[in-house]
Formats: sequence, C-alpha cells, structure tokens
Amino acid sequence: MSALLVTGIGELVTCDPTLGDGSPLGVLTDATLVIENGRVSWVGPAGAAPAADVRVDLGGRAVVPGFVDSHAHLVFAGDRSREFEARAGGARYDGGGIAGTVAATRAATDEWLRARLRGFVAEMRAQGTTTVEVKSGYGLTVVDEARSLRIAREVTPETTFLGAHVVPQGTDRRGYVDLVTGPMLAACAPHARWVDVFCEPASPHAFDADESREVLLAGAAAGLGLRVHGNQLAEGPGVRLGVELGAASVDHCTHLSAADVEALAGGSTVATLLPGVEFSTRSPYPDGGALVAAGVTVALATDCNPGTSFTSSMPFVIALAVREMRLTPAQALWAATAGGAMALRRTDVGHLGVGARADLAVLDAPSYRHLAYRPGVPLARALDLPDPRV
Ligand code: NIG
Ligand code: FE
Repeated sequence: MSALLVTGIGELVTCDPTLGDGSPLGVLTDATLVIENGRVSWVGPAGAAPAADVRVDLGGRAVVPGFVDSHAHLVFAGDRSREFEARAGGARYDGGGIAGTVAATRAATDEWLRARLRGFVAEMRAQGTTTVEVKSGYGLTVVDEARSLRIAREVTPETTFLGAHVVPQGTDRRGYVDLVTGPMLAACAPHARWVDVFCEPASPHAFDADESREVLLAGAAAGLGLRVHGNQLAEGPGVRLGVELGAASVDHCTHLSAADVEALAGGSTVATLLPGVEFSTRSPYPDGGALVAAGVTVALATDCNPGTSFTSSMPFVIALAVREMRLTPAQALWAATAGGAMALRRTDVGHLGVGARADLAVLDAPSYRHLAYRPGVPLARALDLPDPRV
C-alpha cells in the first residue's frame, strides 16, 4: 500500500470542525494531507507529516473539499437559449419549455446523450466538482426515463428518477401519475437511488400536493430516497411535504413562508438553494443567511439544466450566493461541500477529515474567500492524483 503526501497547502479547508481553527470549515494553514487507498489517512501541519512514497507540492495554493453538486439535470438534448433571451424581454418561466427538451431528448441516440453527459461531468470536474447528482426527467416515457437513468448511472451513483417532472403534452394527468408510480417506477428504480417530483401547483405543467405525495410514497415503497423540487415559482406545499415525508432535500426554496422555514429548521431535510435559477429566470433570491440563522441546513447546487440554470459552475453558484443570498463566503463554501453531502446523505464526501474520500479541489488562490472575491475567474479544479492512484 503506497501513501501519497499532498503538501504545500497554504490553506486547507477540511469542513471537519474538529480540525484546524475549530470553525465549521475546519481551516488549517500550511498543511499536509496523506492519502492512502483513495482516502484521507492523515491531516496536519506540514512539519509533522509522516513519510510517504509520493509527494505532491501545491506551492501554497488553497485546497477545499471537492464540490458536491447535489442537483443537476444532465441527460438531455436541444437548446433553449431563445427561451432564456425571451426572459430579458419580460417572459416568465413556468416550466412549459421543458416540452421542447423532452422532444429533443427522445430523438437523441444513447451515444449522443452519453457523450454530452460525459462532457458536462468533465466540465464540472475542471471547475472543482467531484460528486454530482444526475436526474432523469426529459424522457417521460418508460423507455426514455429508464435509458436516461441507465446512462446517468455510468457516471454517478447519485441518480434520481424524475418521471414526475411535468405532465407530457397531450397526456391525461391522472393517467400519467399512474404511469409514473407504476410501470415507469418499476423500470427506473433499479437504476436510481432517489425519486424526485416537481411539486408546484403554480405551474400548469407540474404536480400538486396530492400527486406529489403519491409519487414520493410510491418511490419510497420501491426503496428510493426522497427529494423534492419545491417552492420555486410561488409559496406552496413542496417544502412542508418534503419535511413531513423525511425527504433528504427540498430544492429551490425560492418562495418560503415562515411556516416553511420553521418546518425546515425542525426537520432533517436540507434546503438546497439554486442561485443559478434565480439568475437565469430573473426571480428574487431567497435569503440563505436567514435560513442559516434559523437553524436550517443549507446546500448549494447548480441545477445545471437547459431551462432554468445552464451553468455547471459551483464557483459561480458560490459567488452568487454570497452576493445575492446573504451567505458569507464561509457559509457558501460549507453549503457547496458539506451541505451538498448532507443533501445526498453521504458522509464520505464534502469534507477532508480522516476517512473521507480523497476528493480535493485546488484553487489557484491563497484562500477559499477568492471563490466569491474573484467571480468568473477559473480558480478551482479537481486534483488529479498521480498514478498509481493510492
Ligand atoms: O430545476 N423546475 C423544474 N425543473 C428544472 C427546470 C427544467 C427545465 O426548465 O428544463 C429546475 O429548475
Ligand atoms: Fe432541478
């Protein structure tokens, strides 16, 4: 067994509060990490590091846990840049444009979808993301949803069945919920870890509280964990339904009532904020600082998708959250790493304490603060460990 020593880390963010400065970010300066068998086996000051077989010197750069992007829709074809442009002229997002992506996705080959997906994952890794969740939801037939998830499974264990994205055009609503909770779920569950629903009574295309409950309970009965798209377009039942059913995460949370915040603070459901969506749809940004102050666990994710947030960049999301959601740079980084891991109920990622996966993001900067301080500058990348991977 060989050990890899990563040294010359000017600032190491571990997201392990038992390490370093004792803050939630667990920051050490002039630090060294030892990696064995793909896991962190030692963390500490450079001078005290044990011997190792291979050394990598990062020359004083900052290292943070690889970003955990816990919400993305990456299996799709087609382009919706005209829809984006129309919003500059005042058009509002209501989910209707999803139909165009569904038509293009159904027409695409497996090979094309796979290549596009792998391209997005590479783009994410080049910006520091080392864990990504991928949803279906642009197939909306038994065959097309199952193939989306099969392809997604090739790149991540964090796959989510989102047959209940919208009711497909020309389809009977009741019949579609029966399809999603019956044959479609049966075909998709073997390829999925999670089930999700677009719970948004304010959209004519999405699902109401009763339909959403049916979808989530059927998914749970099939052994899937629960996630919810909720409270994106207006206040509504999504957040409270998610908390009541013990969902790992309710995502968007753009429009929250006091009762929603109270429910989130009292439950185990993470509020996943998606500032790329507010940016792209010109919606108001939710107050992430107030959520943290209320005791809610907050995650940040890209929601990378062609309709509401076509960015793969967690650094961009962090910068937006700091500028527009009242998160501090430290809170935003925590939400993009440890928070994302909690949203996926993972303990092996989102931190760099002993035992964590050796998923490191290196910054061409002296401090994590530069992620928001230097928006739009490509500072972060996932660290490729030298061969042989230890
Ligand atoms: O997370 N809101 C629902 N689903 C996606 C958008 C899908 C689309 O418009 O293509 C979202 O915002
Ligand atoms: Fe989404």
